[in-house]
Amino acid sequence: MSSKIDPSTLTRKDAEKELADLARVLNAANKAYHRDDAPDLSDAEYDALKRRNVALEEQFPYLKRADSPTDQVGAIPAEGFSKVRHEVAMLSLSNAFDDDDIADFDQRIRRYLGLSEEEALRYVAEPKIDGLSLSLRYEMGELVQAATRGDGTTGENVTANARTISDVPTRLTDAPDILEVRGEIYMSHSDFQALNEHQAEAGDKTFANPRNAAAGSLRQLDAAITRRRPLRFFAYAWGALSQPLADTQLCAIARLNQLGFRTNPLTRACGGPKEMVAHYRKIETQRAELGYDIDGVVYKVDNLDLQRRLGFRSTTPRWAIAHKFPAELAWTKLERIDIQVGRTGALSPVARLVPVTVGGVVVSNATLHNEDYIAGRDNKGGEIRGGKDIREGDQVQVYRAGDVIPKVADVDLTKRPVDAKPYVFPKICPECGSDAVREAGDAVRRCTGGMICPAQAVEKLKHFVGRAAFDIEGLGAKQVEQFYADKWISEPADIFTLEDRYGTGLQQLKNREGWGEKSATNLFAAITEKRSIELGRVIFALGIRHVGESASNLLARHYGSWSAFSEAIGSAQDPESSAWGDLLSIDGVGSVMAQSLVNAFAQEAERAGIDRLVEQLDVQSAERPQSDGSPVAGKTVVFTGTLEKMTRAEAKGRAEALGAKVSGSVSAKTDLLVAGPGAGSKAKKATELGIETLDENGWLTLIGEG
Ligand code: IVH
Repeated sequence: MSSKIDPSTLTRKDAEKELADLARVLNAANKAYHRDDAPDLSDAEYDALKRRNVALEEQFPYLKRADSPTDQVGAIPAEGFSKVRHEVAMLSLSNAFDDDDIADFDQRIRRYLGLSEEEALRYVAEPKIDGLSLSLRYEMGELVQAATRGDGTTGENVTANARTISDVPTRLTDAPDILEVRGEIYMSHSDFQALNEHQAEAGDKTFANPRNAAAGSLRQLDAAITRRRPLRFFAYAWGALSQPLADTQLCAIARLNQLGFRTNPLTRACGGPKEMVAHYRKIETQRAELGYDIDGVVYKVDNLDLQRRLGFRSTTPRWAIAHKFPAELAWTKLERIDIQVGRTGALSPVARLVPVTVGGVVVSNATLHNEDYIAGRDNKGGEIRGGKDIREGDQVQVYRAGDVIPKVADVDLTKRPVDAKPYVFPKICPECGSDAVREAGDAVRRCTGGMICPAQAVEKLKHFVGRAAFDIEGLGAKQVEQFYADKWISEPADIFTLEDRYGTGLQQLKNREGWGEKSATNLFAAITEKRSIELGRVIFALGIRHVGESASNLLARHYGSWSAFSEAIGSAQDPESSAWGDLLSIDGVGSVMAQSLVNAFAQEAERAGIDRLVEQLDVQSAERPQSDGSPVAGKTVVFTGTLEKMTRAEAKGRAEALGAKVSGSVSAKTDLLVAGPGAGSKAKKATELGIETLDENGWLTLIGEG
């Protein structure tokens, strides 16, 4: 069929009929493809019909139908993809930047496992592909689900899109009944260039780099678009499994390859840090010729039993690390230094730059960290950049590594304008005029205005409604700014009283610019829906310094309920209290974070705001993950004496992974003491308190590893 129209042969009536037919056929094809995962047209047929439809609409714009297939984005609801909860979390990797970091990584692992220098420990080195990770779930050999990483716990369902990628097999033979294959979706350099040329010719948006192009292509609501994008996939990991793939990482990768997945040919076994670094150097020299982007080398402990023993910190495995390539650099002019005030009051200097391309991305802003950094000092008063300060008008060197905010690395004094003046860091908040103070030991100057500072208040509110926090549909950064400016909302609790306070909230809201009856009704419904919310989200939403998303979830799991959490943090003000010790015993909570939590709850105004908020909510209790059926879930365990089969760190890591709390001291709250040889006062105290005591073997039997 031709998509060209000859107006002399096509009457308005014929066109109208043909458009109706096309709408019916294409909309049905969309449904078959997206919703039922059963395409009834070939790609070529689908594309031809769609082109014909566009051509007819161009020729007869007044005949364009309300249900025009041109405006359809598949049968998936336009608000986005459905969510997928990962059975096994998709974690990220901690980073290493130099050879010493790799030696430290090896040392840490040896210490954790109690291995001496003489004992062999094999690693696998793999290129770190610069794309986006994807998890493919196969059941009985059939691809049943594909999900992006998302926040690591919940990703987006991109099954229809993944099915269009030729590197993703839809059927496997001889695979475990349940197999989740994980790896990286990426785009080659040549495909990226061709795609961008094609996009530019068609007047469509071009992509900044292959990674963005791959992400943009995979996350298309219309899988027909993904199908046309040249995406590729390397497999390098796995999630849920009904049977192990192999005993080692290297053999598991080989098995994935046998099953039909592409695996990276530069994957090598290494005997230790020296060989790992040598392989890194080799890959670094080959980097430009690979034809796709890599941003480093990943090292993994080869033995999968050791990987299991090493386990995970809150967001990263202990058994792997990413050795990143040095960042890309470019020189440009720093036109101006602006100060931004964040939600914790931090005054952050931002360099406004003459736009420059760094590693394929246009950069016009870069962080300058803090006043010491601008002055050429580190946080201990030592020199950085040879003591050179940074001034408005300077030529500066900008770099970016991965997705991080670009930074200013260096300054060229030979190009400094004669009239450039040293930058004077403000001592007063530029947003609210309150004093901006720097506490001893803090690199950052902070506005003391608290919630009276509009910048802090708005940033706190934006954080509160963010994706990992309350995530209220229809209430994003823009709406928060609008409501704050109009004094409808000045603190988080106000969001939940909005409808009531305005009595006729709906009436007022729907008359505002940008709002109608439907969006106003939807907003109030979305707010009501979020009154019932998980504990981890509430803790994160409070925006307390140093308390990030994963720490919030750890805290939630540790304390279980809002009342237990708030009571404990209140009591932890006393550094002698068991509440303080208990808080610090959480793997992933250090003293800085603990202090920050305690401070937030100790400040009357802040605490009152938190209480006002919680009064509006129904905070759900947290469950302990991975501990279903675990005999130690929820129990407080103390280890003492010498452990012979594992190090103390490993014992703690394993116990926590099974849902237990590990504490350093015995108290009435202790459920179980694991005592090795040489146990002293703790064992005595446990006996006095009548606490169950086991030796190491007893403990291993209890947790099913004996
Ligand atoms: S392993 C539990 N191996 O890097 C660890 N990740 O910075 C799972 N990546 O989210 C990751 N190449 O998207 C692993 N050979 C490789 C990788 C790789 C690229 C990505 C992946 C991950 C990110 C972490």
